[in-house]
Amino acid sequence: MTQLLFVDACVRGTASRTRALAERFLSAYAAAHPSNPIVRRDLMRDRLEPQYPELLDRRDALAAAGKLDDPIFDNARQFARADRIVLAAPFWELSFPAILKIYLERVSMRGITFGYEAGGLVGRCRAEKLLLITTRGGDYSLPETEWMEMGARQLKALCAMFGIPKFELLCAEGLDDERVDVRARMEEAFAHADALGKSF
Ligand SMILES: Cc1cc2nc3c(=O)[nH]c(=O)nc-3n(C[C@H](O)[C@H](O)[C@H](O)COP(=O)(O)O)c2cc1C
Repeated sequence: MTQLLFVDACVRGTASRTRALAERFLSAYAAAHPSNPIVRRDLMRDRLEPQYPELLDRRDALAAAGKLDDPIFDNARQFARADRIVLAAPFWELSFPAILKIYLERVSMRGITFGYEAGGLVGRCRAEKLLLITTRGGDYSLPETEWMEMGARQLKALCAMFGIPKFELLCAEGLDDERVDVRARMEEAFAHADALGKSF
């Protein structure tokens, strides 16, 4: 059974265009793969504290004692076990909201999602693919703006670190630019979501 983990960092909730795109993808995925469970991780609901010194000390002490089954590592273990991972997050400050960064800090745990062996860094995640669903105010697909994009790029690199072979992106660009036909852009992205939901 293939389990899909959906991590929701769409801060504006029902007003979020990224969330709408993600729900469209999930509907297409569920229709095409009716027996594959979807596990939802809502970052607005179960809120994570940043890793302040006390929390980091506790985490390190538990890891040193080999207690990787402690609930403090629940997010990392859930991430490592998933067969498919979908992250939905709007484009903020050229990457994504801090709540997703905090989540990723929790997920990046030596001995759970990655490790070091004789040959160096090895990923320990089971997932074959990770998909980032996002929408952006500007257009960062252009040769002159592409280099400024730090969200998809960071996640693609993290996939390599976690041992997830394939990174995919579903994105609607330029949604805050008055010159853009936003409805048409979203329709294009919805069509892409439908196709990706079937193949993912
Ligand atoms: C706090 C904040 C930061 C943002 N930073 C950027 C940015 O750096 N670049 C950009 O193109 N758009 C930026 N935007 C615009 C959003 O990417 C855009 O409106 C997006 O579609 C919002 O997604 P949502 O509808 O899912 O919330 C920002 C919006 C907010 C609220």
